[in-house]
Amino acid sequence: MALVKMTDIMTRAQQRGAGVGAFSIYNLASLRAAIQAAEALELPSIIMIAEKRFPSAPFEYVAPAMMSAAKNAKVDIAVHLDHGESLEVVQQALDMGFTSVMFDGSSLPFDENVANTLKVMEMAKPFGAAVEAELGCLGTKEDGTATAGEKFTRPEEAKEFLRLTKVDALAIAIGNAHGNYKAKPDLQFDILKQIHEENPGQHLVLHGGSGISDADFQKCIANGITKINVATAMLNAIMKRVDDRAKEEAKPDYYPFFEEVVGAVQGVVEHHMRVFDMQKI
Ligand code: 13P
Repeated sequence: MALVKMTDIMTRAQQRGAGVGAFSIYNLASLRAAIQAAEALELPSIIMIAEKRFPSAPFEYVAPAMMSAAKNAKVDIAVHLDHGESLEVVQQALDMGFTSVMFDGSSLPFDENVANTLKVMEMAKPFGAAVEAELGCLGTKEDGTATAGEKFTRPEEAKEFLRLTKVDALAIAIGNAHGNYKAKPDLQFDILKQIHEENPGQHLVLHGGSGISDADFQKCIANGITKINVATAMLNAIMKRVDDRAKEEAKPDYYPFFEEVVGAVQGVVEHHMRVFDMQKI
């Protein structure tokens, strides 16, 4: 079908009481799995890469592959930059044709986060691209390292941030974290509800989707989350397949084994798409 903007898919989802999964790309297996899942279920989807992934998946190699996969897909696909930390990388993503960019200023003081988000919105405007920002601090960063400390998003700050920036999508911290959860996630639904009620229609994003229960995902969507990021669950599927295969056969053939890995990751993506009720979109 077509390369689309993530907010177009998110708005459709919001109107129909569904969420949208955004799936992390870090190699060819994850890219094929994400696209195949969307095509198999005949659903639109979002693929994304985070700046922290560039050392193992160089952006100049992976970005053109993501763009080409989206343009050749049988369904609508949005291509998103996840956790852009510098304006240079945001510009690079826009130049590559990404239809949305995230600027992660969550570790900056409030005013600096606002100022940089506004700069990114100016940069995105000529490209017609959407912008995601982040407010509050998740316990763990996208690459698994610890942050200075978990800080839930404060509803009054969210309201002010949105008034000042009018950003397309806002990622919030409500007890969610990147990577494998060390303890059962204890999501602060009162904070989510308040932010949603005070900013009706605003697209809110939940990072750290791996390890959250299906019931909590649905509760998040019912209370205003429109996009949910998933990465670690896909990596876990690869590691599990590698582990299981090693027990089954001493020297498996690479190519059939690679297809098994793609299939395992595709299964994880399809599971999340179903839990997010994406068939309603
Ligand atoms: P997980 O790795 O916990 O799924 O989080 C993904 C994410 O939020 C990427 O931005």
